[in-house]
Amino acid sequence: MSATTPELGSIPPGTVNLSDYTAHARARLDANAWAYFGGGAGDELTMQANRDAWDALRLHPRVLRSLTGGHTRSTLLGRMLEHPILLAPVAFQRLAHADGELGTAYAAAAQGAGLVLSTQASMPLEHIAQAVLPDPGRGPLWFQLYLQHDKGFTQALVQRAEQAGYEALVLTIDAPCSGARDRERRVDFQLPAGIGAVNLAGLSSRVPATLQAGQSAMFDDLLTMAPTWSDIEWLQGITRLPILLKGILHEDDARQARALGVSGLIVSNHGGRTLDTAVPTAWALPRIAQAVGHDLPLLVDGGIRRGTDVLKALALGADAVMIGRPYVHALATAGALGVAHVIRLLRDEFEIAMALTGCATLADITPAVLFQQP
Ligand SMILES: Cc1cc2nc3c(=O)[nH]c(=O)nc-3n(C[C@H](O)[C@H](O)[C@H](O)COP(=O)(O)O)c2cc1C
Repeated sequence: MSATTPELGSIPPGTVNLSDYTAHARARLDANAWAYFGGGAGDELTMQANRDAWDALRLHPRVLRSLTGGHTRSTLLGRMLEHPILLAPVAFQRLAHADGELGTAYAAAAQGAGLVLSTQASMPLEHIAQAVLPDPGRGPLWFQLYLQHDKGFTQALVQRAEQAGYEALVLTIDAPCSGARDRERRVDFQLPAGIGAVNLAGLSSRVPATLQAGQSAMFDDLLTMAPTWSDIEWLQGITRLPILLKGILHEDDARQARALGVSGLIVSNHGGRTLDTAVPTAWALPRIAQAVGHDLPLLVDGGIRRGTDVLKALALGADAVMIGRPYVHALATAGALGVAHVIRLLRDEFEIAMALTGCATLADITPAVLFQQP
């Protein structure tokens, strides 16, 4: 198989929803890869709570409205979206399938879904951009950035993303250190030889600080590199691309980000992979939407598995949603075809949810579609 022709996998019979792919991926991936693609931090309470919070919201349908001419289109950062579903940045996708991020990118483009490529992608960012930019039906192509300890390297990486044609930067700010991910520690998770963060090749290894007695390897070494608000301004100064912050959960942080003039926010707890027991995103979203108002693009991810979840997210103030694990589980199961299938399934379910709540367009999706307990 050539690196530019994704292998067409086959969808297992009876696969009808996103969670079905999780069961397939679990059966196909080895223990090492499953710990990485299936797990979360700590007791995985936030990972589960993300799901439970969407489930706990109940819909309050309206009937007999005309739905003729309805659609799922909207505008985000000045660009038309066919539907409000994007693929979240997920690292090391060649660990899930040989086609890796390329398979994902072709599938996203074919389904008009936005794609956010991880800094820790296992394929060169330029290859992904070249593969999908010519597709007129593709969704937005964004690059997710982790600030590196070497600012010059980070700047060069941003320039590469700009030159390759990425349309926005998604700066992830909720992972200054890794979460305590027990599943990965139990299997002693390792990246297999030949799979790595190829876009970080050439980055000098960080020289650990010499610690004095009583100093902490965490606070006096690792976290001295962690991004702070001043780094947002630094980033704004070196790029012409819009910057979205990924990993906002607190309304005060959202206000501060808006004051700095960022182009958008992604309400996220990293799919429950960083701080366990952090608030589920469905709880944080409405507070943040209220804090920043309607003029700042707002996305949300974490536990979105159903079209009704997409509808609920938009009702709570999001302009669009991202999914993470479901599409990587589909990639592991059936390559690009699986990823395309997941996007189509979620979009179909979303259209059904719109129709059955009496919403013809995204503008009709307001908090009124959520049942309010008297
Ligand atoms: C295996 C895995 C790797 C991830 N890698 C990244 C990453 O490189 N950068 C990032 O910003 N988020 C990363 N995330 C978080 C996702 O972008 C997203 O926030 C999360 O998966 C959404 O939750 P969901 O998986 O429940 O849909 C990763 C998530 C998973 C599951």
